[in-house]
Amino acid sequence: MPHTRAVRIAPSILSADFARLGEQVRAVEEAGADVLHVDVMDGHFVPNLTVGPLVVRALRPVTALPLHVHLMMEKPESLIDAFAEAGAEQITVHVETCPHLHRTLQQIREAGAQPAVVLNPATPLSTLEEVLDQVALILVMTVNPGFGGQTLIPSALDKVRRLRALLDKMENPPHIEVDGGVNWDTLEEVLAAGADVLVMGSAIFDADEGPAEAVRSYRRAIDAFMRRTD
Ligand code: DX5
Ligand code: ZN
Repeated sequence: MPHTRAVRIAPSILSADFARLGEQVRAVEEAGADVLHVDVMDGHFVPNLTVGPLVVRALRPVTALPLHVHLMMEKPESLIDAFAEAGAEQITVHVETCPHLHRTLQQIREAGAQPAVVLNPATPLSTLEEVLDQVALILVMTVNPGFGGQTLIPSALDKVRRLRALLDKMENPPHIEVDGGVNWDTLEEVLAAGADVLVMGSAIFDADEGPAEAVRSYRRAIDAFMRRTD
C-alpha cells in the first residue's frame, strides 16, 4: 500500500564531482538525502571502472548518512569484508555474479553489513525467490549497469510492480530500490510501481540548480505524490 511507504532518496556519487566529493556529500545530506549510494565498477562485469573501499573509508567520517555499496564486480566475495570494514552499512551484490548467493549474503551479514541483492534488467525475479527473507533490500536495475545518465527501461517497472505484489504478502518485506534513469520524467511511475528507495545520480548532481536544491525539490515532489495516492 503506497501510503505506508516512507520513500528514501539515495544520491549516487557516480555523477558527483570527485574533486569536491566531501563537499557535495555534505550538501545532499543537509538537503535531506537519506542514504548515499556508492557505485563500485570493476571494468569486467560492467564496462567501467570506479572506486574501492578506500573511498568508502574516506567518506565515512564526512557524513552521517548510511553508505550503501552497489557492487558491480565479478567475485564480489573478495571485497565484501574490506567494504564492511571501511564503513559500508549495506552491501548489494548482483545475482548474476554470485553462483553461491546464499553463502555470499551470509558473508555480508557476518561482516556486519546488511545484505542486499540486485537484478539486471534481463534477470528474472525467480532468481531470488529463495533468498527473499534474507535480504534487507532488493535493487531492480532500471538501466543496464555501467554508466550514469541513461534512459529508464520501461519493462523494468513491470518487474518492480510484480515484486511489490510479491513482497506485500510478507510480514517484514525488504525494501525495493530502483537504480537508473530516475528523474522528473520517470519519478511518478517509479513511485506508482512500488519502489521505496530511489537511487538518483545525474538527476541530482547534474541538476542546473545544484545537488542540494535538487534533493529538496525531489523530496517535496515525492512527499506530495505519496500524500496524493494515500
Ligand atoms: C549505473 C549505476 C547507477 C547510476 C545511476 O550503473 O548503478 O547508480 O549512478 O545514474 P542515473 O541516476 O544518472 O541514471
Ligand atoms: Zn548503482
